[in-house]
Formats: sequence, structure tokens, C-alpha cells
Amino acid sequence: MRKIVIAGNWKMFKTQVESKEFLQGFLPCLEETAQDREVVLCVPFTDLSVLSKNLHGSRVNLGAQNIHWEEEGAYTGEISGPMLKETGVRYVIVGHSERRQHFGETDATVNLRLKAAQKYGLTPILCVGETKQQRDLGETEALIVSQLEKDLVGVDQENLVIAYEPIWAIGTGDTCEATEANRVIGLIRSQLNNPKTPIQYGGSVKPGNVDDIMAQPEIDGALVGGASLDPKSFARIVNYE
Ligand code: G3P
Repeated sequence: MRKIVIAGNWKMFKTQVESKEFLQGFLPCLEETAQDREVVLCVPFTDLSVLSKNLHGSRVNLGAQNIHWEEEGAYTGEISGPMLKETGVRYVIVGHSERRQHFGETDATVNLRLKAAQKYGLTPILCVGETKQQRDLGETEALIVSQLEKDLVGVDQENLVIAYEPIWAIGTGDTCEATEANRVIGLIRSQLNNPKTPIQYGGSVKPGNVDDIMAQPEIDGALVGGASLDPKSFARIVNYE
């Protein structure tokens, strides 16, 4: 049995006040029947402390959206593993396509960040996925195999979550067909040395499509952007049938 992980990625949304309001709407909606799944909120750095306090005693895990590979140093704007750990963080997103596209993240730095997360006892959520152009050119499979090969050098696959996020499906409402996501996730699994590594799908996951997505045999969870900002929508996703 593989672990199911449903994670929200708030990206650069929500102040501390808004994050507390979110929890008031979200926590009471989590159903007892959905206990089999791990729930994670990956929030902006400024929200981590307040959420850490307010999630205490709940089944929701705290996640961050980036980690630097050094323990400390002259790296303006970055944050380290010990800092995240001390704040109660358990998961951290690494290699999201928005960081690869806008902030110069490479497979080499993704690899360093993954190993740093594990070194400090955090579980990284590694994001991989193709652009529309790469898909149209038939390069999806080769791209994903190459990302995994480079990103996972020396990474422990026992303490890892992978998210397949086709870039053309992120924030567009244009979800990847559930069967196609299942196929690509099967390909990802075939590249791993640990059959138990959970592999999520991400890209326009919503209350209306989550049941179909989660019914696919290879898909072990979801990484949810826009729909995780609304407490009722994200609760419905976590409580998928
Ligand atoms: O990391 C989650 C993400 O990139 C998907 O965003 O808004 O399409 O659910 P969204």
C-alpha cells in the first residue's frame, strides 16, 4: 500500500490573518473517513509560524515551498532546513515549475535542495512536468526521464513524494485527462527504485475532477494550487470519494 498525500500549494497567497481564517473554515470540514490520507499545507514563509501554532493537535502537516541546501550563510532571500524544521515544517516543495521558469532553478540546484531537505528530516515533494510545446513535440517522456535522472542523484526514495505537474495544466483549468496523468505517473514509477514512493498529480485539480483523478491506480495524491486557497474546496478535495 502506498501512502496518499494531498497537498495544497498556496504559492504567494495569504497573509497571516487570511491563513488563520482559512483554518477556521477548513479544519472542521475534514471528514473522519478521510483519515487514510496525509494532508499538507505548503504556505508562504511568513505564514509558517502562525500555522504551526494553529495546526498543533490537528492532522494537517505543515509544508514550505523552497529550501536552500546550506545550513546558513550569505544567501539573501533563501531559507534553510534547520530554520524550517524549527518552525514545525515536515514537507517542502522542491523544483516547482514556477521556480524553474522564473527563478533559474536547474536540475542541479533541485538535486541539492532535495538532499538538503532529507538531511534535515523533511520530506521533499519533487515536481516534474513538461511544457505544452514539449508535449506537442512528443518530448514528454524523455523530459521527465531526464528530470528524474538528474534530480534524484543520491536522493533517498524512501523519504520522498513526487508530483507530476504538466506545466500546461497549471492554473489554466485545462486538467490533464486522468488516464493520461495515470500513464505518465506509471512511467515515473518505472524509473524509481522504490515502488512505495507516492506520486501525486498536480494541475487544475478541483472538487469536480478530484474523484476521477484519485480513482486512477497509479495516482497517490494531488498537489493543489488555486483550489487549495478556498477552505471548502480544499476540504472537498481532501475528502475525495
Ligand atoms: O503546485 C500546484 C500547482 O502548480 C497547480 O496549480 O492552480 O493548477 O491547481 P493549480
